[in-house]
Amino acid sequence: AHVGAGTVGWTSRCHQRAYVGAGAGGWTSRCHQRAYVGAGAGGWTSGCHQRASGEMRIDGRGRPRAWWGAPVRPEGQMKSKPAASRHPLENRRAFRNALLRWFQAEGADYPWRRTEDPYAILVSEIMLQQTTVGAVLQNRRFERFLATFPDLERLAAAPEADLLRAWEGLGYYNRVRNLQKTAQAVLEDHGGRFPRTPTELETLPGVGRYTAGAVATFAFGQAVPIVDANIARVLTRLLDYRQEIDSSASRDRLWGWAAELVPAGEARGFNSALMELGQRVCGARDAQCAQCPVRDFCTTRDPLALPKKKPRRSGLFRRQRSMLGSRR
Ligand code: ADE
Repeated sequence: AHVGAGTVGWTSRCHQRAYVGAGAGGWTSRCHQRAYVGAGAGGWTSGCHQRASGEMRIDGRGRPRAWWGAPVRPEGQMKSKPAASRHPLENRRAFRNALLRWFQAEGADYPWRRTEDPYAILVSEIMLQQTTVGAVLQNRRFERFLATFPDLERLAAAPEADLLRAWEGLGYYNRVRNLQKTAQAVLEDHGGRFPRTPTELETLPGVGRYTAGAVATFAFGQAVPIVDANIARVLTRLLDYRQEIDSSASRDRLWGWAAELVPAGEARGFNSALMELGQRVCGARDAQCAQCPVRDFCTTRDPLALPKKKPRRSGLFRRQRSMLGSRR
């Protein structure tokens, strides 16, 4: 490769862009080739981390240039990725179709996706709080719990020791205690018929906004929004939302966008797809934009900088506050 006289040594990253086809937005902002770095080092890198010697040079006016002459911006300010050609909120139908097509082809076949029984869906959602999907799949935790407590009646009547045994290893045992209270409440207060709307579902013990929405959409197919940490990250990046997301105003905005996007008739698949996109493609530390089915709709240029969160207080400060009896 030609290297100009003003070459600036090593770049921190490979800056090669990859052409991914006009339909997929033209050029990627960065080389996304993954490199196998050996099982001991975690398998594949999330993107190409090769450094290139002498790849950049300084032109006559002191501006950095790639060896082939194109202007180069410092990292973090890459202008090479075009703004999304289609904004998700302004092209909802195309956005939903792209996401749903991907999910139909690539979506995971989790056991809780094979049922629409609200009781089973609730069990899965409660189990998946504070627990990874892998940990629930491992040892068939979900299936085993349902084999022990196949319905509301069996769960409602179970002695606590049996409950705790079925939950062993999952931790946060209040979750299963609340699950039992919910089973009792559905039987006693709702005549054994599961409430269907998020507002009614939220009155059940241990059922918050996310879980209520998840049961309404996954069990009853309702076109209601759900926002968990994965969906929050995906929406923040798609919409290039740069405010801290852990404020009530930001939470309202995220839930509002999720509500605007969820399609009537396809809510179950759409909400599952959005969540899975965050789990598998748009990761917190690993944004695999080249593999993203909705990259054409994504408006951020710097996915790994999002979402922004309020700075965590130092451990010392938190300890002092807790000693003063403050509550969060
Ligand atoms: N995490 C929480 N709920 C989930 C679901 N329904 N599918 C996959 N992951 C989840």
